[in-house]
Amino acid sequence: MRVVLAGATGTVGSALVPMLVEAGHSVLGLTRSSGGAAKLTAAGATPVLADVLDEDALLGALNGQRADAVLHEATALTRTPMLHRHLHPTNELRDAGTRNLLRAAELVGATRFVTQSFFLGYGYRDHGDRPVTEDSPFARPDGSPFDVHMRSMRSNEDQVFGTPGIEGISLRYGLFYGPEVSTRKLMDLARKRMMPVTDPSGVTSPIHIDDAAAATVAALERGRAGQAYNIADDHPVGFAEYVRAVASAAGAPAPPRVPAWLLRAVPYLHALMVGTRIRLSNEKAKRELDWAPRFPSCHDGLAALAVRKP
Ligand SMILES: NC(=O)c1ccc[n+]([C@@H]2O[C@H](COP(=O)([O-])OP(=O)(O)OC[C@H]3O[C@@H](n4cnc5c(N)ncnc54)[C@H](OP(=O)(O)O)[C@@H]3O)[C@@H](O)[C@H]2O)c1
Repeated sequence: MRVVLAGATGTVGSALVPMLVEAGHSVLGLTRSSGGAAKLTAAGATPVLADVLDEDALLGALNGQRADAVLHEATALTRTPMLHRHLHPTNELRDAGTRNLLRAAELVGATRFVTQSFFLGYGYRDHGDRPVTEDSPFARPDGSPFDVHMRSMRSNEDQVFGTPGIEGISLRYGLFYGPEVSTRKLMDLARKRMMPVTDPSGVTSPIHIDDAAAATVAALERGRAGQAYNIADDHPVGFAEYVRAVASAAGAPAPPRVPAWLLRAVPYLHALMVGTRIRLSNEKAKRELDWAPRFPSCHDGLAALAVRKP
């Protein structure tokens, strides 16, 4: 297939471009910078310079191109979100960015559209011990400060599933880790003993970035139109256990323990690390996409990272 990839230079995109090329697809990779364009050329993609939030510029840059599919992997999370407002640029990419990319799909004749979504669209709360499947309510505002994020995730999926002539697929990724920026930052903090574990802590559902990229190729090729897929590994973990595993992979001392209430000053992080307990089911992705994580648990994936280090 010929695919337009938004977010081609980002965390998922950087892992995805070589996998797409290896699988025989050709990639038109969007980026806003000449540095991004050089990186894409080196990875075997054709760079297209455009800002997805500028509809005219995006359509102008793609004018005359043909493609079979659009992949929307653009986020604005270079800075780890700690406050709600840190997510606003990403929300805009899920709302206006999706709208513009659907127009781009129409322009280039693409009929498949795979979008990036996020497992915490199920809600930043305690989901209990049962695995959360794709049938659970997703991106439902409930009067909390998270509503603004829920609305953008709702908008993203509604647009992708509701556009006539488009086979829309949404990937609800778990928490990314691997050879990528947020894991590196956590490792650096752990080495400086600045990454605490909270007591009590929440439960999260990680996914190695290479497994997320492999699932994305599988969804492009085999995903059913109108479907959402949870993309997580086989073993949800306590957030404290996750942080300890990151510290161990970094060769850092055991992280200090702090009472959970101390994180209340950083509301988004408190919700992520303490208030949310979520065990994502990946059964549907395994069944329908013929995909399975190469790293079944973050302990495997983080140990592999430790081995890669010089
Ligand atoms: N599920 C998860 O846990 C999850 C999901 C997403 C991100 N994250 C984390 O967030 C951190 C940053 O992720 P990241 O590298 O993907 O994010 P990023 O640095 O924000 O970049 C994301 C990608 O989106 C593109 N992009 C952003 N705004 C754009 C716009 N207006 N027009 C066109 N392209 C645009 C960027 O392209 P150019 O800059 O080349 O233009 C880049 O390719 C990582 O540590 C990652 O793990 C986590």
